[in-house]
Amino acid sequence: MKPQIIALLGSPVEDGNTARLLSEAIKGAEDAGCSVTKVEVTKLKFSPCMEYFYCEQNDDCMMKDDVSPFLKRFRTIDGLIVASPVMTMGFPGAIKSFMDRFQVFFMAKYVRKDPLVKKEMKKWRKALLISIGGMNVPYDFDGVRLSMRAFCDITDFEYWEDVLQNDMDSIQDITKKPEKIKEAYTKAYEMCRLIAEDKAKNTAEESG
Ligand SMILES: Cc1cc2nc3c(=O)[nH]c(=O)nc-3n(C[C@H](O)[C@H](O)[C@H](O)COP(=O)(O)O)c2cc1C
Repeated sequence: MKPQIIALLGSPVEDGNTARLLSEAIKGAEDAGCSVTKVEVTKLKFSPCMEYFYCEQNDDCMMKDDVSPFLKRFRTIDGLIVASPVMTMGFPGAIKSFMDRFQVFFMAKYVRKDPLVKKEMKKWRKALLISIGGMNVPYDFDGVRLSMRAFCDITDFEYWEDVLQNDMDSIQDITKKPEKIKEAYTKAYEMCRLIAEDKAKNTAEESG
């Protein structure tokens, strides 16, 4: 089976600049031999974490909604691409709330010491962050990078690389930055090539 990748779109704009970079990254991932499921997070119906703490004792979330299937799928996917604009110096609310619901993984890993992701999968699971911001300030991506690092840590992905473009309020259209579009394709291609290679190596070692 091809390596499975989930590509999260955090922008509500279906054909915006973030979406454009993500579609290039998806092409790269598919060209590297992976199967990609794109998820438009703002279209999902779900609530933010309500801190019921059910997941402190159980490997699932008490709240059943559109996030529920992802809490299962994230245990076995091979790679992750997160594409999001910066809003209020961090991830926009919908995708941040989606990430917060993965407290289920945090509790299993750090509280019960029984991670939901099998140890061997950590040899190849990798994640790529794609982010754009309107402002031209050097700290524009500090918030999303910190949250991405925390999310990757609890869900056991190596935070492999990122593709970042600030100053979008001036640039307006990402097609004016063909090198960024190419970078999204190339980094996703390379990450997914490595995922496929590392996974195959591990499978060969296991069977031989
Ligand atoms: C509610 C909101 C908050 C924003 N906050 C920031 C911010 O803190 N820093 C920044 O650089 N850009 C900020 N932006 C600008 C977006 O990052 C920028 O417009 C981006 O290009 C949107 O990409 P998209 O059209 O692909 O969603 C904000 C935009 C919105 C709508």
